[in-house]
Amino acid sequence: MAQRIAVIAGDGIGTEVMPEGVRALEAAAKRFNLDLDFHTFDFGSCDYYLEHGQMLPNDWFEQLKGFDALFYGAVGWPDTVPDHISLWGSLLQFRRQFDQYINLRPCKLMPGIKSPLAGREPGDIDFYVVRENTEGEYSSVGGKMFEGTEREVVMQETVMTRTGVDRVLKYAFDLAQTRPRKKLTSATKSNGISITMPYWDERVAEMAKQYPDVAVDKFHIDILTANFVLHPDWFDVVVGSNLFGDILSDLGPACTGTIGIAPSANINPEGNFPSLFEPVHGSAPDIAGKGIANPIGQIWSGAMMLEHLGHQDAAKAMVDAIEAVLAEGDADVLTRDIGGQGTTESLGKAIAERIGS
Ligand code: NAD
Ligand code: IPM
Ligand code: MN
Repeated sequence: MAQRIAVIAGDGIGTEVMPEGVRALEAAAKRFNLDLDFHTFDFGSCDYYLEHGQMLPNDWFEQLKGFDALFYGAVGWPDTVPDHISLWGSLLQFRRQFDQYINLRPCKLMPGIKSPLAGREPGDIDFYVVRENTEGEYSSVGGKMFEGTEREVVMQETVMTRTGVDRVLKYAFDLAQTRPRKKLTSATKSNGISITMPYWDERVAEMAKQYPDVAVDKFHIDILTANFVLHPDWFDVVVGSNLFGDILSDLGPACTGTIGIAPSANINPEGNFPSLFEPVHGSAPDIAGKGIANPIGQIWSGAMMLEHLGHQDAAKAMVDAIEAVLAEGDADVLTRDIGGQGTTESLGKAIAERIGS
């Protein structure tokens, strides 16, 4: 039976990298005889908002819940719609309403890409950020008082539930167990944030008892960011709260050369709802419309989607194709962020061709 995929390109370079993501998936489907059925939606973009006054139609949940997966580009066009409106009205709704409580973000220095960190070679940087994706600092608990007066107060509470913390930790420990180094690093800030972060540490210590074979360490987020730059080779699986995971998952890819290649999987592990696959990067208004965005983040997210849908061979062929094209290093094919002078399409086509061969 066909697997149904909802395609939502979003804004800016989302609309440019998405066709390359679909092209690569179609190449994989052809080679591995997969029956993928793509349905394109125009909602979840700022253009849709300007026309309808909201980012999503009222029945979006009903429309999307039956899909096997959601393939998303990027959202946000701050010149026309404030970011908190576009993002809380779309992506963050998907993550929360579809209970995609894991945000899995690999960081890997690929062959042919130069790390901005001196002396780092492929193999030196290869870790996962596992980000809590439905609660924490991204909470809707809070408010404004005395608005417009000298006494103005704004508050937004961090929410950690035992279920929410334990389930992301369990996922991260399970993942660490599958890796050769079996190492887990927890991002904390329990020296300064004195209620939620000590709680996070406590739950890590409790969970660690069930995984005696996993080596666990923790760093406060401030020094952890420094260590990402100074010692990226220390890390294997890094688990963090929603905000810490967000920050680390831009920093990690920057250490591997460009945020343009970084993929992510917003996963509902139980399969009660569709999971969502999207690049880590945003809509990049500074380069949108030029056809120069790197499509690898989108394509690699497609590979994570196929893996999630049970097509391990096809997923591996997609990642292998990305690596092969990068290793070849043809400057006419590669995009500018990785030292080439090619286009979104030249790089996307080269990868799709390689997947098909
Ligand atoms: P961004 O990721 O869009 O861009 C940051 C920098 O990285 C820019 O200089 C951009 O040109 C570059 N970049 C990003 N993707 C690239 C690619 N594929 N190839 C080459 N270069 C790339 O982050 P931002 O500028 O902070 O945000 C822009 C908009 O995107 C905002 O509206 C923001 O809220 C939104 N955003 C959305 C998502 C998402 O949809 N998941 C993620 C991050 C930001
Ligand atoms: C990401 C993005 C989003 C986040 C924004 C756009 C709301 O930065 O996917 O990393 O903070 O989660
Ligand atoms: Mn982010």
